[in-house]
Amino acid sequence: MRENVYDVSDKAQFYAGHSYRHYKSEVYPLFANILSTLKDGDVILDIGGGPGHLPYEFFKKQTEKSIEYWILDGSKALLKHAEGKLAGNDQIHTALIDFNKEDWGKGLPSANAIVSNNALFHLKPERICDFYTGLSGILRPNGFYLNQQSMLYAGGYHPHQNNVITKFLNKLPYDVLPQMPQFTEEEFNNMMESETEIKNRHQEEIKQAMAQKDLDPTIYYFHSVEDHLKALRQTGMEATTIWQKKEFYVILGVKE
Ligand SMILES: C[S@@+](CC[C@H](N)C(=O)[O-])C[C@H]1O[C@@H](n2cnc3c(N)ncnc32)[C@H](O)[C@@H]1O
Repeated sequence: MRENVYDVSDKAQFYAGHSYRHYKSEVYPLFANILSTLKDGDVILDIGGGPGHLPYEFFKKQTEKSIEYWILDGSKALLKHAEGKLAGNDQIHTALIDFNKEDWGKGLPSANAIVSNNALFHLKPERICDFYTGLSGILRPNGFYLNQQSMLYAGGYHPHQNNVITKFLNKLPYDVLPQMPQFTEEEFNNMMESETEIKNRHQEEIKQAMAQKDLDPTIYYFHSVEDHLKALRQTGMEATTIWQKKEFYVILGVKE
């Protein structure tokens, strides 16, 4: 494992214990179905794969092929959690990376598929072009990229803003746009406990980061879909969206 300066261990408990039913019901099956087109000997890299939920779901069905699956994350604690969750699966590898660093891809194997679920909102906006240049370099010919994350709404609305659009969307009942997980009371209480702790810590980190005029990596960045597509296309890859719900999109990139 490479050593790295960035760790988000404080969020490990939150991410590892998060009820991820909304991903489990739609996003993970979509990713897993597309990944099932891979062949024996192929390599998958999972950027910000953290607690290992996606590979866990993927390998539940994928028992025949010999596929190398790399979970890449900035948190030692989350990688450890993933290793425990997937113990005994010798197709799993983990590596500590920081995708906000220029050399994030150094030492990684080239891949047939690169996936990322709900992690690249941590990517600093000024890094997006370099990040995709690195990603395209790692991807083998005919390889593909899948990324699900929260983006800006069309028109530049920020999902956390308190404006007429977000107010309207937030009032909709769960079954109209069921992108949010429904928690059991116990899950909710556990989450709220860790969330309050995280929020307090974030506020302190943000204050410190602002004072240093250097934004902290734990801040969320809302990229637009166009930011991603443009940055992917400047590498020579083709790119489009293949799924959307509220501000959540899945982007597909393909390298010829
Ligand atoms: C919301 S979690 C998503 C985890 C996982 N992909 C899933 O589907 O549950 C975001 C992940 O991004 C990782 N992360 C955040 N910033 C990172 C960075 N700069 N480099 C690498 N990983 C990072 C976190 O450690 C965390 O595992």
